[in-house]
Amino acid sequence: MKKIYMLAFLVLIIFWGCKEDKNTDYILSKDHHSYANFNDVRVNHLSLDLTVDFNQQILKGKVDLTLDHFTDATVLILDTRKLVINKVLADGKETSFSLGEEHTIFGQPLSITISKSTQVVSIYYATSPDADALQWLTPEQTLGKKHPFLFSQSQAILARTWIPCQDGPGVKFTYDATIKTDPHLMALMSATNGTQKQSDGIYKFTMKQPISSYLLALTVGDLSFASTGRNSGVYAEPAMLEKSVWELNTMQSMIDSAEQLYGPYAWERYDVVVLPPSFPFGGMENPRLTFATPTIIAGDRSLVALIAHELAHSWSGNLVTNETWNDFWLNEGFTVYFEQRIMEKIFGKPYEEMLTKLGMGELKATLQELEEEGKLADTHLYLDLDGRDPDDGLTDVAYEKGRFFLQKVESVVGRNRFDVFLKKYFEEFRFKTMNTERFVTYLKTHLLTSKEAADIHIQAWVYGPGLPDNALIPYSQELDRVEEAIAGFNNNQLAASEMNTTGYTTHHWLYFLRGLKNLDSTKMADLDEVYHFTETGNSEVACDWYKHCIEQNYTPGFPAMREFLIRVGRRKFLTPLYTRLAKEPVHKAWAKEVYSVAKKGYHSVSYNTIDQILN
Ligand code: BES
Ligand code: ZN
Repeated sequence: MKKIYMLAFLVLIIFWGCKEDKNTDYILSKDHHSYANFNDVRVNHLSLDLTVDFNQQILKGKVDLTLDHFTDATVLILDTRKLVINKVLADGKETSFSLGEEHTIFGQPLSITISKSTQVVSIYYATSPDADALQWLTPEQTLGKKHPFLFSQSQAILARTWIPCQDGPGVKFTYDATIKTDPHLMALMSATNGTQKQSDGIYKFTMKQPISSYLLALTVGDLSFASTGRNSGVYAEPAMLEKSVWELNTMQSMIDSAEQLYGPYAWERYDVVVLPPSFPFGGMENPRLTFATPTIIAGDRSLVALIAHELAHSWSGNLVTNETWNDFWLNEGFTVYFEQRIMEKIFGKPYEEMLTKLGMGELKATLQELEEEGKLADTHLYLDLDGRDPDDGLTDVAYEKGRFFLQKVESVVGRNRFDVFLKKYFEEFRFKTMNTERFVTYLKTHLLTSKEAADIHIQAWVYGPGLPDNALIPYSQELDRVEEAIAGFNNNQLAASEMNTTGYTTHHWLYFLRGLKNLDSTKMADLDEVYHFTETGNSEVACDWYKHCIEQNYTPGFPAMREFLIRVGRRKFLTPLYTRLAKEPVHKAWAKEVYSVAKKGYHSVSYNTIDQILN
């Protein structure tokens, strides 16, 4: 008798074992920034039909979501924020839904009644005029001054403010869209795009490769197109187009170099749209169509590394995607590493060395800041953003510490082995997601010997604070040259006109400006008279110069800074300037006045940050 029980027990154990083995592939890690029940039922295709209403500043229409079922769940939970939901259908029949309590960062869960065989859920909805992803520009806020403009920014969790969806990076789906707008305007998405305006104002899009919701993107405006090569081109307002094409003439060779490094480009075309200056980021890697700030159009091609960066995301991020925002470094660290490899291939080692050394400077400054604020855990590569805005994870740590970690791995195994590994990694996990723990395991099993793994100190890099002491020390002969000028000027041994600055590029100047100490307004005036920093048209140089203007109270720089703060909405420039201004009561009052004018031109991503700084 006992034996029979034993046998039954054994059979049961084997059965359970098999059951667990059976297709658990679909299970995604918990995503603390999404309400969606994607481990029960998951969206595999999204079909949008929206009208763009510039008068009311809303998008209105419907979205159809096609579902895969993993359990018998009879509810579909989606992410929404500030959306007006009018009606919901399940396979064409009206069904009940409810919106949960509103959270200021995460929004409201939308629970929809479904059956275990529901294939398509249709949601009729409208966005609110203050949808955080969307910025609506008046004609006066554009270059052409004649037509309004709209653009979206979905990363990290703002897609839910313009489309009800499963808004976590782990969920991937294909999409198609119909966008109706004014026939004087062109609509573009992170999908197949045309190159001409449609006389009926109706634009159709398809994205047949699966993407995460943070890559959903739309822009509408008076845009025109010019080709830059076989499968690349630029869209911009007509007045910006020629300059943009000139500036971005290396785009096609960047694509070709990237393919040589890590395998075929998976998205067919690579285009860039140069947006109005209020775009809150430098660039956003929307698939097939990078969104870019016009502040990279410097007139000397010195800021094109940003395009290499967004292009590199076509592999690291868009193909192999961070599973949650805690794994953000897998997107950005890999991308900075890859970006530098593209830059080295096209512009040579000395150029790449300058970028890398500047990157280390930025990383050290960020680490010091975070340490002073007691935010040590935010200096880890693997982040704990649970319950927080994923925006908090957007620091140089993910980007630069991530890159220096990969560079460390490269230096230990050699470039050839590392490249073979990376190529295979992108191939094996294309259109999938990756998390930190699985990446570390993959690295240990597919690349490193145990001795190599021990030499790298993976644990310290990924799960520990600060910069591990085995980090490579970036070297740049070009920037070493600048050290002499810095030392001479800092010690008052050289006047501005006595420094040897022949052959200085934007990056030499950035290094120079970042190395200055013992400044006062007389020395600022000396520099300004010789090098005209206040009048510079280079946004990166301008930002570093204005930081000194604030710290030295160099008032001749303030009118140009005021104009810059009003014209440019790129948060990376605004944050350090407003932060410095907020330190002294007089400057803070000045900043508040400027901000009272500037704010209406900023995207929510920027004004939410600046509101906090100026409180
Ligand atoms: N994907 C990021 C921008 C982003 C990250 C937006 C997280 C929202 C949340 C983009 O690829 C990026 O990193 N942009 C940088 C430029 C880059 C050269 C470092 C930027 O905007 O400055
Ligand atoms: Zn990036």
